[in-house]
Amino acid sequence: MNQKKIVMSGVRPTGLPHLGNWAGAFKNWVDLQEDYQCYYSIVDWHALTSEYQNTKNIRPDVRNVLLDMLGVGIDPERSVVFLQSEIKEIAELFLLFAMFTPLGWLERVPTFKEQQKELKEKDLNTIGFLGYPLLQTIDIIIVRANIVPVGEDQVSHLELAREIVRRFNNLYGNYFPEPIEFLTPIPKLPGLDGRKMSKSYDNTICLSDSAETVDKKIRPMKTDTRRMRRSDPGVPDDCPAFDFHKCFSSEEERKEIVAGCTTASIGCIDCKKILIKNLNNLLDPFRERRKKYESMPVEDILESGIKKTREVAKQTIAEARELMKI
Ligand code: TRP
Ligand code: SF4
Repeated sequence: MNQKKIVMSGVRPTGLPHLGNWAGAFKNWVDLQEDYQCYYSIVDWHALTSEYQNTKNIRPDVRNVLLDMLGVGIDPERSVVFLQSEIKEIAELFLLFAMFTPLGWLERVPTFKEQQKELKEKDLNTIGFLGYPLLQTIDIIIVRANIVPVGEDQVSHLELAREIVRRFNNLYGNYFPEPIEFLTPIPKLPGLDGRKMSKSYDNTICLSDSAETVDKKIRPMKTDTRRMRRSDPGVPDDCPAFDFHKCFSSEEERKEIVAGCTTASIGCIDCKKILIKNLNNLLDPFRERRKKYESMPVEDILESGIKKTREVAKQTIAEARELMKI
């Protein structure tokens, strides 16, 4: 019997995964494989909640996301990697849970109004978009997961997931575990322009970027504005490039940079060269593994993960229906 605790997480197939995805989630996904039974889902229904008007990129993005997941070291021998929309049990459980999930709970999730404001060009006044965190809850509980490695921005969704689980357990009997979030200790990583790293701001470093591209993107990236000239000293804590150093450079390197930056004895390009070297050292093994998988039938990996997830999901549905007397 497999008594390992269950880990579950998901990634939306909307654009190429970037360093922010790695720092916020993928790194933990890889590490947790050691000690837990992990389920990692490519959540194409979640992509649809905001991309329903333009769906042509979703399928190619599923493949890109899958290749990057394998590239960073998700091991399909140990972890179950699957495609959300292939698990129809998720849709069924979502419908059952929609019956007793209060509208107010969903309306109060901060990301609901935030995202509507941020993505004004899209009409996100839909049942699907309002239901996003409920669907995420179902992703988690369909495999009865205990631990959910996500970025900080997802904490409100996990709080809601626990409330919804408690509601089911009170109404029909204690069945689902209350999932807890698992956050990375990695400091927050901004984008190249200092705003949040996000594909919609076009300020990302993609995990699939070549070494040359990383170089081209980092060189002009935003720095502390006090360093207009080479001779002006800067404040690393006000510099997005230094935020990158906090994530990807050694303590020793950071000490040298702080000393050099505050006394103007090191130029920004020298400082960024250290960063470029460290980023490429991190990304090189990912690139190599990704390349290997690119020539393999990765669809088979998904297919096998789908089969395994279905088995668990079928059991969950059967037991939930029994408890609900449906
Ligand atoms: N909402 C998550 C995000 O934007 C993606 C997601 C969907 C997810 N379903 C999930 C994360 C289940 C964890 C567990 O990052
Ligand atoms: Fe930023 Fe480095 Fe330039 Fe200082 S030297 S402003 S830390 S890029």
